[in-house]
Amino acid sequence: MYKIDLSNKTAVVFGVANDRSIGWSIAQTLAQAGARLAILYQNERLKSRITTLVKDLPNASMIECDVSSDTSITSAFEQIRSIFGKIDILVHSIAYAQREDLGGAFSDINRDGFKIALDISAYSLIPLVREGSKLMESGGSVLTLTFDGSSKVYPGYNIMGTAKAALENEVRQLSSEYGVKGIRVNAISAGPLNTLAARGITGFAEMKRIHAEKSPLKRNIKHSEIGDAALFLLSDMSSGITGTILPVDAGYHIMAV
Ligand SMILES: NC(=O)c1ccc[n+]([C@@H]2O[C@H](COP(=O)([O-])OP(=O)(O)OC[C@H]3O[C@@H](n4cnc5c(N)ncnc54)[C@H](O)[C@@H]3O)[C@@H](O)[C@H]2O)c1
Repeated sequence: MYKIDLSNKTAVVFGVANDRSIGWSIAQTLAQAGARLAILYQNERLKSRITTLVKDLPNASMIECDVSSDTSITSAFEQIRSIFGKIDILVHSIAYAQREDLGGAFSDINRDGFKIALDISAYSLIPLVREGSKLMESGGSVLTLTFDGSSKVYPGYNIMGTAKAALENEVRQLSSEYGVKGIRVNAISAGPLNTLAARGITGFAEMKRIHAEKSPLKRNIKHSEIGDAALFLLSDMSSGITGTILPVDAGYHIMAV
């Protein structure tokens, strides 16, 4: 009988803001499979909420990390090293763009808005993999989260589509670079889910409605379905898979109309 057992694995999950965060669904699934966990949260403001959540995870650590700061990233990995020594799994579930850049005309984006969205949502994967790989002594698995807006136009998704296109390219380049060390890098392209980040996207409710109406499964996905697919990609069950973008979207991506 097959069973995914992560009881000898350590996982670090970047990007938990609340109990609706995709990062939280993934963290819960990894914990249920037996992994030791560190939850990385953005700032002090989120600390008490994360403290409450993490009580449900056996032996989980909490570490602050703002990915817009190199110092914060370095400090986070120093803490990860001192707590765990080595890690096996890294989850990047982070994105941000200014609210005014997630609606209206795409071409209204200014240089600062572009830089912020691309820095937090795409660049951040690179230093996290670089630093995380130093602690992956016996290989490892990295997962990030993307969306179909990387290659198609979803009005309102705007600059985040540009950021996700960059992120998906990074998945391929990083998997090519780190494969020799036994480190795999993949992404899940998730269908729309109600989260804090999603709330900022103009037209999100309509996007979600259309996904449910047009997808082959005729429904939206559930948070737990991302957790389950993540468990597969982060475990040795997917040992032959790297550089892949796996759609978990009730099949919506195959539809033309
Ligand atoms: N919700 C959806 O419909 C959907 C669909 C496809 C992909 N995604 C992707 O899933 C990922 C997680 O988003 P979510 O929907 O769970 O929303 P969320 O708001 O719960 O998670 C986004 C996370 O990014 C973190 N973050 C933002 N700026 C940061 C910074 N400077 N430093 C550190 N962390 C920072 C936030 O604190 C938060 O934890 C994102 O990459 C998002 O684009 C979401």
